[in-house]
Amino acid sequence: MLLLATIAILIGGIIEIFPMVMIESNVPRIESVKPYTPLELAGRDMYIREGCVGCHSQMVRPFRSETERYGEYSKSGEYIYDRPFLWGSKRTGPDLQRVGGKYPDSWHFNHMLEPQSISPGSIMPPYPWMIRDELSLDLLPKKIKALRTLGTPYPEGYEQIAIADAQKQAERVAGRLKKDGIEMDGLEKKEIIAMIAYLQRLGTDIKPKAQATK
Ligand code: HEC
Repeated sequence: MLLLATIAILIGGIIEIFPMVMIESNVPRIESVKPYTPLELAGRDMYIREGCVGCHSQMVRPFRSETERYGEYSKSGEYIYDRPFLWGSKRTGPDLQRVGGKYPDSWHFNHMLEPQSISPGSIMPPYPWMIRDELSLDLLPKKIKALRTLGTPYPEGYEQIAIADAQKQAERVAGRLKKDGIEMDGLEKKEIIAMIAYLQRLGTDIKPKAQATK
């Protein structure tokens, strides 16, 4: 019985899983969904490191109560470059799938430093070390290579310019913070810059107006 049940489950598994992995056209794609930039990748890794996924989901469900609060519901094609996915299963805080472009960069800076100063009564913990610590970009070339092996279409040789690309984007984010009055020595080298770049990207691939925040 045990053996037969195992075989039956295996057959079911093979029929369901194999076509999904093997047949390219089964993967839903959206033309405007592009891979993360190197700086956003670094921010995403920080999001994983800090366990933000424990309190925030990244999936807007197709219900009116959700779309009115968060915006367009999530499509499966939006997640194809998410490795690992960060859908989350708990919302102590709001969903973040569409947070990109919702606030200015300086909002996120101040919110990460002291959430209560921006959202009175917030129970989100502060992350002051992101503002203190320098961002390490050393692993970016390896990350780009690994993701390419897994199918993310970074052009051949992109890993060689990944660090320079991240630095350029970091300077743009720091420039916007400066305009809002946030000045600090070496601000463009801090971890918070990557975190902001990642948050501002979330959900914007199918929300063209917010692209301006890149
Ligand atoms: C203990 C749970 C908890 C953790 C961990 C947490 N948050 Fe939050 N977060 C909240 C709560 C609650 C709110 C709503 C109140 C507020 O705005 O601070 C929130 C709000 C936010 C918002 C504003 C969302 C919006 O649409 O207004 C962002 C952005 C955010 N969090 C990012 C992060 C990031 C990035 C991390 C990880 C570095 C993180 N959070 C970790 C609980 C958490």
